[in-house]
Amino acid sequence: MSEETGAEESLEIPQEINYLRISITDRCNLRCVYCMPEEGVSNLSHDDIMSYEELKSFAAAAVATGINKIRITGGDPLVRKGIVDFVEMLNDIDPGLKISMTTNGLLLARYAKDLKKAGLSRINISIDSLDPGTYRNITRIGKLEDVMEGLHASFDAGLEPVKINVVVLNSINDDPVPFAELTRELPVHVRFIEYMPFFNDPGKWYISNDITRAKLESAMKLEEDKGPEGWGPAREHFQVEGALGTISFISPVSCHFCPSCNRIRVSADGKMRTCLFDQNGTDIRDLIRSGADIGELKLVIEKELDRKRLEGDHKPKPGTRIRAGDHMSRIGG
Ligand code: 5AD
Ligand code: SF4
Repeated sequence: MSEETGAEESLEIPQEINYLRISITDRCNLRCVYCMPEEGVSNLSHDDIMSYEELKSFAAAAVATGINKIRITGGDPLVRKGIVDFVEMLNDIDPGLKISMTTNGLLLARYAKDLKKAGLSRINISIDSLDPGTYRNITRIGKLEDVMEGLHASFDAGLEPVKINVVVLNSINDDPVPFAELTRELPVHVRFIEYMPFFNDPGKWYISNDITRAKLESAMKLEEDKGPEGWGPAREHFQVEGALGTISFISPVSCHFCPSCNRIRVSADGKMRTCLFDQNGTDIRDLIRSGADIGELKLVIEKELDRKRLEGDHKPKPGTRIRAGDHMSRIGG
């Protein structure tokens, strides 16, 4: 599908929407500067949060529409009690389902093995710097050694692939070389993500991935690689010569990928969004609590998927401050 005509072509060849992201909590044990204010965001109350049973009903309906990949996100998903059981519940919908998680990794040393046993296959760990001081400054309270322990526990547990998400902030963690060096030693897939200017953007953090890539290329030779089988928007896969892992660039601001977007999301409070930038979302929680069964939920999801296919591109223009309908820690990135 070409970039220019993606939206029109999707009328003839339905855009495959097969990937659901479920944010199970808005709580997090970190306070990354680009994600949350220092005091955190006011937590949703217990009643606001979808129960695991409710999330499972929604996921089952989504699977009936063709979703075959589910990523569990947060906040940090590992801070919600019963997470291992929830992975198992999703796996019970269909053992062929590919289940993954995005986490800050702090609790992986404790959970990686059990998650794998419950049916989790892949893991994305957010590590914005390999320097302990910079890691602490970005996360405000995190200890790099804890997440590195989680990273190693993921390999030991047999999670595959293991990816590292790095949100690159200008003049803060914008040296990509240490991560490239890490790919020499570990079969890890590092993804440099362009920072998207959200709620408290000081207007100086954004830096184009073109610059990050140029920095890497001036330090070492990168070979093009097809990368691990991906679900999402990672483009431009590379490998340092002889390295075990790979490097890729996700450029939501400088590069356009709406027409090929294959994902929908549901937030912890039950708002389904077909785009990260949807303002309100569709209230799934009320539907479920008023007695909708899986067949009815499926119809609601299908209607939203059709709308997504028709609308195509919602992305805000470069240079404007992005308005999402909620905090990233609620929508789940
Ligand atoms: N820009 C880019 N990525 C972000 N994330 C959170 N906020 C932003 C932002 N403003 C990322 C996290 C994590 C994923 C869940 O979303 O770093 O990797
Ligand atoms: Fe937590 Fe992730 Fe937000 Fe950092 S970016 S505060 S780890 S939810």
